[in-house]
Amino acid sequence: MIQIEHISKQYRPKKSLPVQALDDLSLHVNKGEFVAVTGVSGSGKSTLLHVLGGMDTVDSGSIKVCGEEITSYTRKQLAQYRNARVGFVLQDFGLIPYRSAIENVTVPLYIHQKNKGKIPQQAETMLKKMGILDLRDRYVYSLSGGQKQRVAIARAMINDPDIILADEPTGALDSKTKTEIMDLFVDLHKNGTTILMVTHDNEISAYADRVLKISDGKIIADEKN
Ligand SMILES: Nc1ncnc2c1ncn2[C@@H]1O[C@H](COP(=O)(O)OP(=O)(O)OP(=O)(O)O)[C@@H](O)[C@H]1O
Ligand SMILES: [Mg+2]
Repeated sequence: MIQIEHISKQYRPKKSLPVQALDDLSLHVNKGEFVAVTGVSGSGKSTLLHVLGGMDTVDSGSIKVCGEEITSYTRKQLAQYRNARVGFVLQDFGLIPYRSAIENVTVPLYIHQKNKGKIPQQAETMLKKMGILDLRDRYVYSLSGGQKQRVAIARAMINDPDIILADEPTGALDSKTKTEIMDLFVDLHKNGTTILMVTHDNEISAYADRVLKISDGKIIADEKN
């Protein structure tokens, strides 16, 4: 489903040396696989998720998703790809603080979906599934870390994406909340969603089928669980 061949990406920050964030990295992921992405801080994990999700571009190499070369997409095609195929759960949640939980969850639908009338019902169903229906009208800034994380997962799932890209989705959560959030991902996995999840936590990577280790923008280990 995902075929990444020899991708490289350099950041060129002003007033400092260039950083090789991805260095000739290749990776194949099958449909329905649950892949944990590990590695030290700065190794290129988030960059990998960003380029795969069409949020950032590579300098060279090929990224095919379901047979389509996304590196040759126009901006508009990329936006469409993100909306139709990918659900993101970002490191900093990426939620809109002064909007309610339900408004945050419905953002992708208002962009993408033709039948807007169905949206409120769809969003409520999703909030219920995530166990946060009672939080529907609360501003996101006022929620706890675990509650925000559920809102972020609900938003990532609402379009029924083929791929979920999750960046440290359980970072800074207590172990009970962590287990609850992971149960949500396990359910998604059972339903056949392909998941790539960045984590520093060995307990979390134990949930995955496969564990990658990234160092200096390269995959240095790729093991089945
Ligand atoms: N927008 C940017 N501009 C310049 N350099 C960047 C940018 N984003 C990332 N980098 C650099 O690219 C390298 C890889 O960053 P990346 O965010 O992918 O690491 P990471 O593995 O996700 O780290 P962490 O575990 O801390 O989240 C780092 O050296 C980082 O400083
Ligand atoms: Mg990161």
